[in-house]
Amino acid sequence: MTGATGMLGHKVAAAAHAAGHGVVTADHAKCDLTDADATTAFVASVAPEAIVNCAAYTDVDAAEEHEAVALRVNADAAGNVARAGAAAGARIVHLSTDYVFDGVNDRPWLESDRPSPLGAYGRTKLAGEAQVALATPEHAIVRTAWLFGVGGPNFVDTMLRLAAGHDEVAVVTDQTGSPTWTGHLAPALVALAAEVRQTGVFHGAGGGQATWHGLAAETFTRAGVACRATATTSDAFKRPAPRPAWSVLGTERDPGVRLPPWTQGLQGHLDEIKESA
Ligand SMILES: NC(=O)c1ccc[n+]([C@@H]2O[C@H](COP(=O)([O-])OP(=O)(O)OC[C@H]3O[C@@H](n4cnc5c(N)ncnc54)[C@H](OP(=O)(O)O)[C@@H]3O)[C@@H](O)[C@H]2O)c1
Repeated sequence: MTGATGMLGHKVAAAAHAAGHGVVTADHAKCDLTDADATTAFVASVAPEAIVNCAAYTDVDAAEEHEAVALRVNADAAGNVARAGAAAGARIVHLSTDYVFDGVNDRPWLESDRPSPLGAYGRTKLAGEAQVALATPEHAIVRTAWLFGVGGPNFVDTMLRLAAGHDEVAVVTDQTGSPTWTGHLAPALVALAAEVRQTGVFHGAGGGQATWHGLAAETFTRAGVACRATATTSDAFKRPAPRPAWSVLGTERDPGVRLPPWTQGLQGHLDEIKESA
C-alpha cells in the first residue's frame, strides 16, 4: 500500500495487518510515486494482490498556488500506481474526495452525480480518478470526506488544541459535509481491496452530516472541554481555496461502502486519543 505514513494510510496498514493480510508499504522515502519507472519496479518486486493508494498531495490551500505539483501526485502518480498494479495483476483501491463536487445540491451526492470541482485540489483528484479508471478495470475509486484520526493533522485535533487556550472558537456554519473517522474507513477499504467483483466509483464517508461548527461543538461536548464554538461564515474566514458549501456523500451502490454515523467515529477518535495519552 502507498501513503502509509499519512493519516489514513497508517490506519489502513494496521487494519490490513489485523485482517491477516501481508502488508508492504511504498513509503515516499522508498518510492517516489511520481517516478513511473521506480513505481513499476517497486510494484513488480512486491507482486501484490491489491494496492490501496492513500498517497496524495492533500494541502487544499497550497494546491491553488502549486496545482502542477498537486497534479503530478494526485493524477500522474495515481496513474503510475494503477498502471504498475495492472501490470502486476493487482486490484487497485484508490482514494478520492468530496471536493470533486461543486457543493450545489439539496441531497447527498451520489456516485453517478457529475463532478465539477471548485478548486485545484478537487481538479487534480478528479484527474487522478480518470487516470486510475483508464489504467485498469480492476479499480475501486473511493471518495471520502472530512477525515479525522490519529497520526495526521485534522480538524478535530485542531479544535482540541485551540480549546486548550481559548474560551471560544469561531467556526463556519455554512459548509456541511460527512465527517469520517479513519478507524471506520480503513477496515472498509481493506475489505473492498479483497472484493474483486466490486469495481467503479464508491462513496465512503461517515453516516449523517454536520457543519464544521456542529463538528466542533460535538467535539467540545464529548471531550468535556469548556470551550464554546461560536458561529461564523466562510466569507468572514477567507482561505485561498474555495470550499463546497454542501459536500455530504451518499451512496447508490448496493453493496456499497457504508460506515457508522460520524458521531460514533468522533467518539472512537476521542477514545483512541485518551488511550494513547
Ligand atoms: N484528509 C482529508 O480530510 C481527506 C478528505 C477526502 C479525501 N482524502 C483523500 O484520502 C487520502 C488520504 O488522505 P490523508 O489525509 O491520509 O493524506 P496525508 O496524511 O496527507 O498522507 C499523504 C501520504 O502521501 C504520501 N505521498 C505524497 N506524495 C508522495 C509521492 N510523490 N510518493 C509517495 N508518497 C507520497 C505522503 O508521504 P510524505 O508525507 O512522506 O510525502 C503521505 O504518506 C488521499 O487520497 C486524500 O486525497 C482526504
